[in-house]
Amino acid sequence: MQTIDWDDDRDCVVMVDQTRLPAEYTTDHAETVDELVGSIEVLRVRGAPALGAAGAYGVALAARTVEAEEYATYEERVRAQAARVADARPTAVNLAREVDAVLEVLDSCESVPEARERTLEAAQRVANEDIRRNRQLGEHGAALLADGATVMTHCNAGALATVDWGTALGVVYSAQEAGKDVDVVANETRPLNQGSRITTVELMQRDVDVTLIPDNAAGLCLQEGRVDAVVVGADRVVLGGGERFGDQGVVFNKVGTYKHAVVAARHDVPFVVAAPHATVDTERDADEVAIEERDPAELREVYGSQNAPADVPVYNPAFDRTPMELVDYLVTETGVYEPPLDRADFAPPVPEA
Ligand code: MRU
Repeated sequence: MQTIDWDDDRDCVVMVDQTRLPAEYTTDHAETVDELVGSIEVLRVRGAPALGAAGAYGVALAARTVEAEEYATYEERVRAQAARVADARPTAVNLAREVDAVLEVLDSCESVPEARERTLEAAQRVANEDIRRNRQLGEHGAALLADGATVMTHCNAGALATVDWGTALGVVYSAQEAGKDVDVVANETRPLNQGSRITTVELMQRDVDVTLIPDNAAGLCLQEGRVDAVVVGADRVVLGGGERFGDQGVVFNKVGTYKHAVVAARHDVPFVVAAPHATVDTERDADEVAIEERDPAELREVYGSQNAPADVPVYNPAFDRTPMELVDYLVTETGVYEPPLDRADFAPPVPEA
């Protein structure tokens, strides 16, 4: 099934519950905006493009659950609920972007039933587009990988981080589909272990050879020449670096990505970012993007057992910043770009793929 979808029978959002992996492959339903926001916050649904779809379906859910007699009041209430979905996590640009995209249809609706129908149609389009674009992205990225290549990846930028197919892992799946034998080194990705819990599961389901390593072994693997390319996804790509990063832009991705980019550069291993245009934020520069800080309990405890003194001060950022100068290739659905990037290639509207 898709990572996230609309359940027509129950008239609500259905998603793979990623908090239960790898033990169980089960689904979770969100029938209210509160439930969807809760699912986003605890990472039942996660990964930038999947969050985009969650945002889009969130507006459809709001449109279904909000009641009001006057259309103007109804619209105002739907927008207020949608804002809660958009704010559920701050770093992945796709979430707020797709909420806004679906909200746009409200401007031309005249009744509650029309708004309910058209927001759902718009959300379905967002989800379908994600799959289509990931497929195209995968084909472009696959051309960078030689037969027999070993790819290192961080976190999970696969089918489960998107509606389907994936970005970084989509590149691997497209290479496999093209007949290339590609295997993957998956970083565990502490503290929530998306690498060990999610990436390994989906690669094994698709018969891709995968070796799990602790995050701290990544440098050694790169130094020993065990990796031909590091391929990661992105939560947000900005084209302006702000005060600290000059004018080359920055990739926001799962914390740890920056360190892998530095070590890859040190050992001349290509560092590839795979992200659709929907993840490129052309409006903000690096200083304007918030890095989500998560609950200290994620470090003080491991699966409910104490891992550190209960009152130890904790800094738990979920993402970090990789300067574009460390990126060798940015792969999108329209092709492979070699930084420094040309803003014209990313100017909205998104070029036809
Ligand atoms: O905190 P998460 O699991 O939502 O973080 C996900 C990532 O950092 C992914 O690498 C990114 O969203 C790209 S997904 C195609």
